[in-house]
Amino acid sequence: GITRHYTFNIEYLNVTRLCHTRPILSVNGKFPGPPLVAREGDRVLVKVVNHVSNNVTIHWHGIRQITSGWADGPAYVTQCPIQSNQSYTYNFTITGQRGTLLWHAHISWLRATIYGPIIILPKHKVPYPFEKPHKEIPIIFGEWFNVDPEAVISQALQTGGGPNVSDAYTINGLPGPFYNCSSNKDTLKLKVKAGKTYLLRIINAALNEELFFSIANHTLVVVEADASYTKPFETHTILIAPGQTTNVLLKTKPKSPNATFLMAVRPYFTGSGTFDNSTAGAILQYTHPSHKPTPQNLPLLQPTLPPINATDFVTKFTAKFKSLGNDKFPSKVPKMVDKKFFFTVGLGTSPCPKNTTCQGPTNNTKFAASVNNISFALPHSLSLIQAYYSKRSNGVFKTDFPSVPINPFNYTGTPPNNTLVTNDTKLVVLNFNTSVQVVLQGTSILGAESHPLHLHGYDFFVVGQGFGNYDENKDPEKFNLVDPVQRNTAGVPAAGWIAIRFQADNPGVWFMHCHLDIHTSWGLIMAWLVLDGPEPNQKLQPPPSDLPKC
Ligand code: C2O
Repeated sequence: GITRHYTFNIEYLNVTRLCHTRPILSVNGKFPGPPLVAREGDRVLVKVVNHVSNNVTIHWHGIRQITSGWADGPAYVTQCPIQSNQSYTYNFTITGQRGTLLWHAHISWLRATIYGPIIILPKHKVPYPFEKPHKEIPIIFGEWFNVDPEAVISQALQTGGGPNVSDAYTINGLPGPFYNCSSNKDTLKLKVKAGKTYLLRIINAALNEELFFSIANHTLVVVEADASYTKPFETHTILIAPGQTTNVLLKTKPKSPNATFLMAVRPYFTGSGTFDNSTAGAILQYTHPSHKPTPQNLPLLQPTLPPINATDFVTKFTAKFKSLGNDKFPSKVPKMVDKKFFFTVGLGTSPCPKNTTCQGPTNNTKFAASVNNISFALPHSLSLIQAYYSKRSNGVFKTDFPSVPINPFNYTGTPPNNTLVTNDTKLVVLNFNTSVQVVLQGTSILGAESHPLHLHGYDFFVVGQGFGNYDENKDPEKFNLVDPVQRNTAGVPAAGWIAIRFQADNPGVWFMHCHLDIHTSWGLIMAWLVLDGPEPNQKLQPPPSDLPKC
């Protein structure tokens, strides 16, 4: 591989959407941000220079960061934030991965506008395991707020209530034709030729919503998820959670039709709170041969999307994902496990601070979220990885995160009376190369909701999934240990569970959290501390000299 140098200047950019103009935080004055393009095996250096007043970090979501945990990006986990007028160079090598991922800010809600695609091409002369596309097109979904998203989250945390929802979804930064005050400029037009195959690299960078996506009168063939190849399958609609990526092949019609086609995005939502129930749109437009007049006023055909709470569709769709698992890309699912964990994931409450009134779910409480009833509290004077590496963990974090819930209850039945969570900073310590199984059990406290869980530093295998309470005696019999999908983000179904496995072969401190930003803000997080292995290439590299200080 070669070394690729990027500079990401964090700077203000005035953006107008839905007739509201506001200065947003951007990378290099682009919204969405510029794509990071590299090949498998390349080393990537990204110098991030902070020209704004907010503290910033960038996370390279889904990049394995093998022994380079200092470059992972979550604030106070693997680094202190880059302060105003400071810079930090993220330095990592892309090993054993190719496909679509995303980069995004990983502090507070700055991801609302600081995000962009990561495109990892296969090594030179290595073909895709599917038809070579005529063209590749990144499609990135986001959420637009007419006000500053930082004000939205700080208000929610102060009052303890649910946050204000976004005003629009966006496709490549544009909301499309269905909003009041959208102009022609606000709609993405994707021009395609007839009789070709396109590779759409679809990314969900939205803050808080899982999204359905469909193109009128066209079929999509899924070929990759989270930068791992899948067995190809056809679908009219995809579901994509924040943090997930899905590559699909789009075969265009053999002849340019006399119509245009809507590409629509709208949420999948099972919770009980409020959400942005709007639809973003873009237009797929065929180019017509130059010797013919371009037809005018073509009709716009609309796709049929599943209903907002279509859990049935989602369950069937999710079950179709299987890893490619051929000779070239064999499945590396751990067949045996050394350590088993059972984590509840869901919402809860925390007490309202004295002398304040809170707008939480019950009288004088605040919304909170937890893993095994512990709501994760980030340190502020030192990052977790620095605390570990400099042997100053004492007082910064504890290592007794419970491997099973301390007070078990009927997770998907009537919730217990006491839904209060505890706040703490606890990690699970894993020896190098431990094979791990985690059952993530959704809870029905304050309403069942699906949670897209994301693991840093690893891809994991989704070996099982179900509804209700996980049954240790029966459910493992049905686990797929042949070709389970390999991902970095997977949805824990509402009032259900998933079982994941990974091989802890990457030393460092690795965040695992719900990728709905509001749930991260409320503490639906835990972290793994994976110890160094015996060999030199199994140890965390020394910290870079320009690592930011708190
Ligand atoms: Cu894409 Cu910890 O996040």
